[in-house]
Amino acid sequence: MSTRLSGLVKIIQVPLKYNNFSIIGIIPIFGSSQWGLVPKVILLVTFNLYEPMMEHFERFGLLINNQVVRTPVAIASMAGYVDAEYVRAREQHIGLAFIGGYSIDEPAMKASKQMVLAGRKEFIHEDMIAELHRQVACMTGSDVVLGINMRGCSPAAFARVAEELGDSIIYEIDAHCRQLPMIEAGSGEYYLNNPTQLFEIVKTLKRAGVTVSVKIRAGVSSDDRALSRALWKAGADILHVDLMDFGYHKIKQIRNSCPVLLIANNSLNTFDRVKDMFAHGADLVSLGRKSDERTLSGIDAAITRYTDEQGWYNSPKQLCRGGDIRALTFCCMPVKNCPLIPTLETLGIKRDEYIRLKEESVRGTPLEGGKNTCFGSLGWCCKNSSPCMFRDITIQQEGISSKEYMRLKRQLSEKIIHHIYYERTEDDAC
Ligand SMILES: Cc1cc2nc3c(=O)[nH]c(=O)nc-3n(C[C@H](O)[C@H](O)[C@H](O)COP(=O)(O)O)c2cc1C
Ligand code: SF4
Ligand code: SF4
Repeated sequence: MSTRLSGLVKIIQVPLKYNNFSIIGIIPIFGSSQWGLVPKVILLVTFNLYEPMMEHFERFGLLINNQVVRTPVAIASMAGYVDAEYVRAREQHIGLAFIGGYSIDEPAMKASKQMVLAGRKEFIHEDMIAELHRQVACMTGSDVVLGINMRGCSPAAFARVAEELGDSIIYEIDAHCRQLPMIEAGSGEYYLNNPTQLFEIVKTLKRAGVTVSVKIRAGVSSDDRALSRALWKAGADILHVDLMDFGYHKIKQIRNSCPVLLIANNSLNTFDRVKDMFAHGADLVSLGRKSDERTLSGIDAAITRYTDEQGWYNSPKQLCRGGDIRALTFCCMPVKNCPLIPTLETLGIKRDEYIRLKEESVRGTPLEGGKNTCFGSLGWCCKNSSPCMFRDITIQQEGISSKEYMRLKRQLSEKIIHHIYYERTEDDAC
């Protein structure tokens, strides 16, 4: 865009797309005239943060702690290694990062020092609050959503950090560390065996008005489903799950137990593994040991490509192919003997309620139409990976692309999940 001012000065606006700045710069270019050297051209340079972030939001639809997440790939904390500097060196390829873990009270710090003596790397600081302020400041200007992984032994310790650092970061409670000194101090994995104390910390942090993530290790609690559900009920916003060797079955179990944002973790170093996690309920994946630039950029690029083709980056498999309950969006009318019926029974949803829910959810949307499909509406139609001429002709007639069809199915799935967890009075989800 260019404008001429009083016939002398030309203003040219140059929007530069660069993620990390949102500023307007004025650069005058001087030229000679009868009055000597005068500004002839003024370049208005806008470094535009807004536009690219909207692009990411449109692609992945992920908002965490009120910030757009540019890609569903996170860095998992590794004590002594992952700090703000580590994250900034990789920030072009990730959307979220948990720095730490940081020991935030005396017993946890004592445990950290013992662990250092035993040969582990830890973040040791005499004034941890000052260090955390430094870390947060070091992330200024980055579009990576920041979480801090913390080890502490009382709700008061977490409350104090929340009071100091405020709500711009995610507070991740480390209920994962299995090092003996940390467990004996009453932190890390200790909480998985003493969940009531963990719930108290979650509730305390929620009272402080901050976003809470809980890092857990699968298979330590006798019932990961019940634990996840109870953590959600206590107020946790995010569950960050080290799956150990359990694989995507565990992520599906947890997805089917609560509606929190779910981060899958452990050896998710290839796009195939990542895709399996997404197809069974993960919202993001995180990498620790292999969080090098090459691995992160490869996974980020593959997810972006896949999403730009398919429209819904973490679309579930169909229910009859082992998908989680988000797959109800692809299910037909309950007319045959298939996994839909037992799933509805487990959820405590009557057939009529299910039919009404889907019909009402697609009303007024392009999914409402489809009289030539099996059940008279695209709302009952299958995933785009199942070949079907009738569906494809219908979506063509509706003027929507296959990618848009999947986006609409995602919206339908969100309405179904919302109904299951928030609109029903009985506490009867599976
Ligand atoms: C050296 C090291 C330090 C770690 N420190 C922490 C920690 O402080 N807090 C935590 O929740 N997890 C910690 N973890 C666990 C990782 O975040 C992650 O769950 C685990 O390494 C599995 O994921 P990966 O296969 O992507 O590495 C640590 C892992 C390693 C290897
Ligand atoms: S309703 Fe259709 S998509 Fe759903 S489980 Fe049954 S056969 Fe599969
Ligand atoms: S019309 Fe095709 S996509 Fe729709 S329910 Fe029937 S088989 Fe599935």
